[in-house]
Amino acid sequence: MTALNTTLSLAVVSGKGGVGKTNIALNLGFALHELGHSLVLLDGDLGLANLDVLLGISPEKNLQDLLGEAPLESVVVPLAQDFAFLPSASGVAELVDLDDDVQSILLDKLDALFRQYHFLLLDLGAGISPTVLSFAARPQERIIVITPEPTSLTDSYALIKVLSAQHQTKNFQLIVNMSESSREARTAFDRLAQACERFLSLPIRLLGVVHKDPMVMESVRHQVPLLKFAPSCRAAQDIREIAAKIVERRERLKDLIARSPILKPLC
Ligand SMILES: Nc1ncnc2c1ncn2[C@@H]1O[C@H](COP(=O)(O)OP(=O)(O)OP(=O)(O)O)[C@@H](O)[C@H]1O
Ligand SMILES: [Mg+2]
Repeated sequence: MTALNTTLSLAVVSGKGGVGKTNIALNLGFALHELGHSLVLLDGDLGLANLDVLLGISPEKNLQDLLGEAPLESVVVPLAQDFAFLPSASGVAELVDLDDDVQSILLDKLDALFRQYHFLLLDLGAGISPTVLSFAARPQERIIVITPEPTSLTDSYALIKVLSAQHQTKNFQLIVNMSESSREARTAFDRLAQACERFLSLPIRLLGVVHKDPMVMESVRHQVPLLKFAPSCRAAQDIREIAAKIVERRERLKDLIARSPILKPLC
């Protein structure tokens, strides 16, 4: 008999590009690890990967090699004890349009690895391309990253609408990033949540707010994750608060997680 699942899988997604997904995924990873949790961080922005850039590393192998015959151990990069990173490739057109079957084969190869960790975090590309949608639909939960800009709200609404129509996806949580104030973030969240409730009958939870912070750009320039580069800056504190909520959620949902696959087959 297969052991009960204990891994909570989360995809970090957005309608509009450049809203901070990769930085949030990476630093949430470090924050979860700081809290004593094990995790695997997967660069699911296939073809335009950049988690490796933010980490300041150049992995020899990546998910593309796993589609070939490379053994799994040669692709996994340990970032710390119990913190694994699966890099993807940049500038590889065949990965951008990965069809669902190939995606399933790739993810099946990874299932046994995912099972060893408390969390699986997927950083995805922006938008509503078929590859992004199918990657976004598989995890147990989705973290939608928005900024207070109107275009970010409309694009995120479009993403949620398409995911719920095409894949019957539920479980959306929101992070408002690059906000000047908690009030501005709340207004942005309310607008999106009201539209989703009214037109899609989908409730959305506010997972947290990450304030605009010049240290984020500095950490990117230095290619050092924010939580290491400026551990006590405002944005780092915000991300730690969000990580604590994610830990609580895993604890609260443990019975449900035990009965769910880490990544669902597509419907
Ligand atoms: N909280 C923040 N405060 C200030 N600047 C930020 C913040 N979050 C992100 N940024 C800026 O936004 C840039 C883009 O961030 P990031 O690459 O994480 O976005 P993304 O959503 O992953 O982009 P893409 O859609 O291209 O994958 C960062 O390089 C940084 O300069
Ligand atoms: Mg990104």
